[in-house]
Amino acid sequence: MSDTVLSVRDLSVRYRTREGPVYATERISFELKAGEVLALVGESGSGKSTAAMSVLRLLPPEAEVLSGQVDFDSQDLLALEDHDLRTIRGRRISTIFQDPIAGLNPVISIGDQVAESLMSHLPLSKKEARNRSLNVLRSVGLSDVERVAKSYPFQLSGGMCQRVMIGIATALDPEVIIADEPTSALDVTVQAQILHQLEQLRRDRGTSILLITHNFGVVAQVADAVAVMYAGHIIETGTVDEMLDTPLHPYTHALLATLPRLDNAGRSLAAIPGAPPDLSEPAAHCPFIARCPKVMNVCRNEPPPPLAPGAHATHPVACYNPIWQS
Ligand SMILES: Nc1ncnc2c1ncn2[C@@H]1O[C@H](COP(=O)(O)OP(=O)(O)O)[C@@H](O)[C@H]1O
Ligand code: SF4
Ligand SMILES: [Mg+2]
Repeated sequence: MSDTVLSVRDLSVRYRTREGPVYATERISFELKAGEVLALVGESGSGKSTAAMSVLRLLPPEAEVLSGQVDFDSQDLLALEDHDLRTIRGRRISTIFQDPIAGLNPVISIGDQVAESLMSHLPLSKKEARNRSLNVLRSVGLSDVERVAKSYPFQLSGGMCQRVMIGIATALDPEVIIADEPTSALDVTVQAQILHQLEQLRRDRGTSILLITHNFGVVAQVADAVAVMYAGHIIETGTVDEMLDTPLHPYTHALLATLPRLDNAGRSLAAIPGAPPDLSEPAAHCPFIARCPKVMNVCRNEPPPPLAPGAHATHPVACYNPIWQS
């Protein structure tokens, strides 16, 4: 469980917009370990999707990577030739996004879409790919797969489409899956089934999963490790138990306080009073300053660097005045 599979270091991404720049992530770093579910958690707009899309260079053209490195198998994915990246994308690192219906082609049958995805990476005949696609559909818990294969996306429920997306993402047994809010568009019962599916993948195949979510209930349910994001910064990282038992950053405390019960998967983080800062300039001070009950003068200086674990802290936190447990 301790080998690092994917490591993001010092990643800064800025978007160009008509209204001016948006500093979406600022020098963020995190590590995904083998066979682990790492949850990247934070309010909407905190930079989670930007971080996720950066890994496979899926950012839109208005995005500019100002600094950073994404290490995978001793290579920096941000510096790789397009041709080499294509051998990794979809095959060794795959993605699942929030809206499964948008991710599928509306005019191609499900079976053909799965088969096409297999054929784009493996030397299979059409017939072999079709047969294999039925197994892919079975592997994600779909029943009556012959009928599903002949269906078009609009003929299936959102949950079924998300299972198909998971099937496509996992068919080639990737080492890493990046799942960006994979259950947010689904109702609560289906959410639980999809999370269970991801959990099973990790257990059965040892897949490492970067799970992006705004929901701490989801984190408590499936994550091994957590990186908390706020306004483009990673402000605390640790195991899920460290985060739930001894949170250190005032923001993490506030997040946890919005959860009446940890298994309450429906609560969002937006219940914290105040608003995140404007991202039109790089942060000149701690990004949480306007909402923080523990603010001190030093917090008005530069953003706090991540404090390494030490005498008090069991895990890294970026704060000048963390909340120590007594
Ligand atoms: N294509 C884009 N153009 C301009 N700004 C963007 C774009 N995508 C995201 N942003 C901005 O970048 C910040 C981070 O967004 P995002 O990574 O989507 O956060 P999250 O996934 O946590 O909701 C937000 O302020 C968002 O408005
Ligand atoms: S650095 Fe200061 S303002 Fe920022 S979270 Fe810590 S105590 Fe609060
Ligand atoms: Mg997002």
